[in-house]
Amino acid sequence: MPELVQGVVARAKGAPVTVETIVIPDPGPGEVKVRIAACGVCHTDLHYREGAINDEFPYLLGHEAAGYVDEIGEGVTGLEVGDYVILNWRAVCGECRACQRGRPWYCFNTHNATQKMTLEDGTELSPALGIGAFADKTLVAAGQCTKVDPEATAQVAGLLGCGVMAGLGAAINTGGVTRGDTVAVIGCGGVGDAAIAGALLAGARTIIAVDIDDRKLELAREFGATNTVNSSKVDPVKAIQDLTDGFGADVVIDAVGRPETYETAFYARDLAGTVVLVGVPDPDARLDLPLIDYFGRGGALKSSWYGDCLPSRDFPMLIDLYLQGRLPLDRFVSEEIALGDVESAFDKMHHGHVLRSVVVL
Ligand SMILES: NC(=O)c1ccc[n+]([C@@H]2O[C@H](COP(=O)([O-])OP(=O)(O)OC[C@H]3O[C@@H](n4cnc5c(N)ncnc54)[C@H](O)[C@@H]3O)[C@@H](O)[C@H]2O)c1
Ligand SMILES: [Zn+2]
Ligand SMILES: [Zn+2]
Repeated sequence: MPELVQGVVARAKGAPVTVETIVIPDPGPGEVKVRIAACGVCHTDLHYREGAINDEFPYLLGHEAAGYVDEIGEGVTGLEVGDYVILNWRAVCGECRACQRGRPWYCFNTHNATQKMTLEDGTELSPALGIGAFADKTLVAAGQCTKVDPEATAQVAGLLGCGVMAGLGAAINTGGVTRGDTVAVIGCGGVGDAAIAGALLAGARTIIAVDIDDRKLELAREFGATNTVNSSKVDPVKAIQDLTDGFGADVVIDAVGRPETYETAFYARDLAGTVVLVGVPDPDARLDLPLIDYFGRGGALKSSWYGDCLPSRDFPMLIDLYLQGRLPLDRFVSEEIALGDVESAFDKMHHGHVLRSVVVL
């Protein structure tokens, strides 16, 4: 029997989100119904509600979640009712050209549930990143569930489902930060601070946090930043160069995604250094750089989709590091809120009051 639950819906571009009754079909072949225990509020949810991702309203928001397998569809193996899982938006297909070439972290055909969740009047919902977890329950593809140690609470574990994984992976996987590197991270929200934590784990010797908000820079220190730069007060390129013997950083991570932050990243890295863009730009953002500078500085300009993670490889490992006290995942949780508080959480995010508001169900 289809089940009725409460979920947070964005009905139209820019309109405040509302809690609505949504209909979850019984899981079909390869699908799983998950009871959500907690779901973090990511900036990407706000991008959806602002119409900056695409125009497939209404959205069922939320995608940074952990919970329990509630019901499994036909042919699902490796999962049982009651399993504790983190949801992911990279259920690799194993068959696309990226997977075939042994690069599944780029998978171009990731799996989602094939059936649609709907509003009570039958209107189909677009689940954010194929998840839709600001809801009591949601429907996903089996591959979107990764089992982890239940010792880690859902508030903490769910964060690996998006932003924190994206940031950690931007440093460790995409940026390839290694022992002795100098690293700068622009934008110290949940994603940027995770990149800082990742750089620390990987053995960076200098980690420079850049933000326009002093409160964020204070928090960045707790995650491992050795230096902080307020780019609304000083020239961030010069500041980063000054902190790296005049050369620039080996790896610069842009966790904002605006033309000016990207330009800072581009010029604040050392020769042959790496820029990683993990912040999601607005569709109308443009970049104008002298091509000779691109050539002359060498190195690599990379984008990081979901931190180039492989959920089955990375989630259980990172939860183990957390449980050993080597990854302070709980520091990302600024507040616990209810489903009805998502709109005000967007507001707090906008005003820089929080790293992560986490909906607890
Ligand atoms: N690539 C991916 O797979 C992926 C995954 C998750 C999130 N994201 C994106 O990462 C970005 C960051 O997400 P978040 O949840 O950390 O957001 P957030 O809003 O919590 O943090 C953004 C931070 O950037 C700072 N900032 C804003 N403008 C700045 C500027 N001009 N210079 C320096 N700092 C500036 C803000 O003060 C804030 O601290 C978003 O664009 C989000 O959509 C990407
Ligand atoms: Zn694939
Ligand atoms: Zn996200």
